[in-house]
Amino acid sequence: MTARVLGGPAPAAGAESLAGHRSRLGDLPGRTERSRIIPMLESSGLLGRGGAGFPVGRKWGSVAGRSGGDAVMLANGAEGEPLSHKDRVLMASRPHLVIDGLELAAEAVGARRAVLYVGSEHAQARAALERALDERDASRSQSLPRVPITIAAPPVSYVAGEESAAVHFVNAGDARPTTVPPRPYEKGVGGKPTLVQNVESLAQAALIARYGDDWYREAGRAETPGTALVTVTGGARPGVVEIDLGTTIGELAEWAGVPAAAGSPVLLGGYFGGLVAGMDAWRLPLDPAVLRRSGTAFGAGVVAFMGDETCGVTTTARIMDYMAGSSAAQCGPCVFGLRAIADAAARIATGQARQDDLARLRGWSQSLAGRGACRLPDGTTGLLASSLRVYEADWTSHQHHRRCLVRHGMARASA
Ligand SMILES: Cc1cc2nc3c(=O)[nH]c(=O)nc-3n(C[C@H](O)[C@H](O)[C@H](O)COP(=O)(O)O)c2cc1C
Ligand code: SF4
Repeated sequence: MTARVLGGPAPAAGAESLAGHRSRLGDLPGRTERSRIIPMLESSGLLGRGGAGFPVGRKWGSVAGRSGGDAVMLANGAEGEPLSHKDRVLMASRPHLVIDGLELAAEAVGARRAVLYVGSEHAQARAALERALDERDASRSQSLPRVPITIAAPPVSYVAGEESAAVHFVNAGDARPTTVPPRPYEKGVGGKPTLVQNVESLAQAALIARYGDDWYREAGRAETPGTALVTVTGGARPGVVEIDLGTTIGELAEWAGVPAAAGSPVLLGGYFGGLVAGMDAWRLPLDPAVLRRSGTAFGAGVVAFMGDETCGVTTTARIMDYMAGSSAAQCGPCVFGLRAIADAAARIATGQARQDDLARLRGWSQSLAGRGACRLPDGTTGLLASSLRVYEADWTSHQHHRRCLVRHGMARASA
């Protein structure tokens, strides 16, 4: 495992001070070097770390091109995904690196103001960022122009981190997605072009500004260069770790203390992601490009080892219920579709399946994507489809025999 963004003191030691941060990494480079940051980011190949994996340099370029010096910069640290912890660990332990990235981006796109958008449940992260802003006020480096930075704390909600919801919250105190277009980069906070960028993306950009795009590309073992933070659950040693992109699922399993020969299902990308299983899947590199071609996603870097003792049906039913409860209740197919999915999955999980429940789940898993203002229905049905595939034996046994393979100690054929 490679430590770049999390290089330095162990994250468990708490927030790195401004003095510690400066003595370890130095200041951001001077104005002339900083003026080249957008092409540098483009050639680095850095992809956004909030889930969609959009090229960071391209996004900065399109906001800079519209800004006229009046843009807004929004650092997305909402992290509403229940299985992800990497953003809160980053904000709580490396607040100055995140703020460096925010100030760098604000300057590059010509922003007049910047917002740190931090989920209200991440109290430690928020406190670290507040302290870091105070430290910077008291000891201002001359290196960057000052941009007013405020902290916004959206309510605990999965959809609050979606970019139009973030803009909506800052504009009107309502963290629900809005119909797009216009997208935030066209018309966002206060009607201004707004760059919404995940906090890890910003921290990576702050390192690229210091060390260059060649340095960034030295890490990475498959197609996509660089390192990424991942949140690992399910092993003996769960936690947040920085990996070279391209590290295989099996290697990460070894790091996390998951039995090497398991090959049991793994949830990639979180509740918006998908399940893979079998030893072939364990050989898959954690690389956004490769995973996309394999029909799954790196998403926000969640790798959850499910273990053979996990009932795929019960777990999926719980996730479906959570996602239905996360609907911002604005779009019919999302409100009614996700609730219908959650109810059918719950009936199957608890031995009360109606005759057509499983068939209806299969239908919904294919028909709801693209039918909401945001991508909540797409993410939810993508996960459902992968569960129906990977846990096919579990679903069939629950539906037709009202029997849980795990509770009855029966072997499950891996997909
Ligand atoms: C339902 C939903 C929830 C999201 N939650 C987050 C989040 O908590 N944090 C985040 O950075 N991006 C989240 N995103 C992605 C954002 O919309 C946006 O793409 C991202 O913040 C852009 O930053 P990036 O390009 O650095 O990834 C979410 C998207 C959706 C559809
Ligand atoms: S798709 Fe669902 S979560 Fe997204 S805006 Fe519509 S109702 Fe809200």
